[in-house]
Amino acid sequence: MTKAIEWISTPAGGFLRLIDQRALPATTAYLDITTVAQLIDAVKTLAVRGAPALGAAGAYGIAVAMLESKRDGWGEAQLRAAFEQLADARPTAVNLAWGAKQVAAQYSHGFEAVLTAAHKIARADEAANRKLSQLGADWLTSKLGKHKLRAITHCNTGALATTAWGTGYGILHELHTRGQLEMVYVDETRPLLQGTRLTSWELTQDGIPHLVQVDGAAASTILRGLVDFAIIGADRITANGDSANKIGSLALALACARAQIPFIVAAPYSTVDATTASGDLVEIENRDDAEVLELAGVKLAAPGVKAFNPAFDVTPHDLISAIVTERGVVEPAVTQQPLFAP
Ligand code: MRU
Repeated sequence: MTKAIEWISTPAGGFLRLIDQRALPATTAYLDITTVAQLIDAVKTLAVRGAPALGAAGAYGIAVAMLESKRDGWGEAQLRAAFEQLADARPTAVNLAWGAKQVAAQYSHGFEAVLTAAHKIARADEAANRKLSQLGADWLTSKLGKHKLRAITHCNTGALATTAWGTGYGILHELHTRGQLEMVYVDETRPLLQGTRLTSWELTQDGIPHLVQVDGAAASTILRGLVDFAIIGADRITANGDSANKIGSLALALACARAQIPFIVAAPYSTVDATTASGDLVEIENRDDAEVLELAGVKLAAPGVKAFNPAFDVTPHDLISAIVTERGVVEPAVTQQPLFAP
């Protein structure tokens, strides 16, 4: 299994090793992170990405900051400012700030306490991956039966996006292991192609049959009856069950509602933000125009053209058949609100 994120201990304390997801699948390269600036750059450029992996990156980032602070003689104010900058490096996935803040709370107890807290977050994510994968596969079997299922997914929710097997991907993997998965339709996931580059790479490694399609094919694939369910991850799930995820997720939910097939959101509980009432309050990250207007560095649009590049959309809870976390499965479309309490 690919390790997207790993703490490497050394006599001087250690560093954070990330697989550089920008280079995949052509090149498997690693980034050894020793400064907060390097980590913020890795987060902003999606060298590390996916909400649970960002949670672990935020957590280990506090350890990185403490070692850097010691090396460079920072004062406490500078260190605390670095904690904040790290937590704010991307706004939509709640896990990043959550991981950074959980671990920063251990700061006064020293480096070892910080590192222990970061390891605890990473291990809890692994356990959550395993548990929710089983719960999600059980739920799908109870709704759709034991015959081989066909799925559609969007973005990347596998090992690269988490600390272990994945969330939505974990459920697909579990179904595959149980002999209950026939085919996965993988949205390419414009503009950064997490589906084509990352999900398809992971499915290939796991020997899971799949087809990559353009995002624009998704609604038609669903309405033509080519899939039995859709499954995605989440960057933030609000108290009422609204779920923010990669731009294009909402289109799948709308099509599933029309086709009357299950639309499933899978995430560790650390992605639940019960302090935010509903999805309209979630900050949606807007990214650079060049991601839309260029392909592999080649300009596609006429000079002067501007882009609209929101990285995420919000699926309202009434379009979601099930939210699967390690704590259980809730059915937002039929359950009393709010679903999650702080
Ligand atoms: O911009 P990204 O690649 O970080 O977006 C990732 C997603 O939208 C994932 O679906 C989400 O974080 C869940 S990952 C288990």
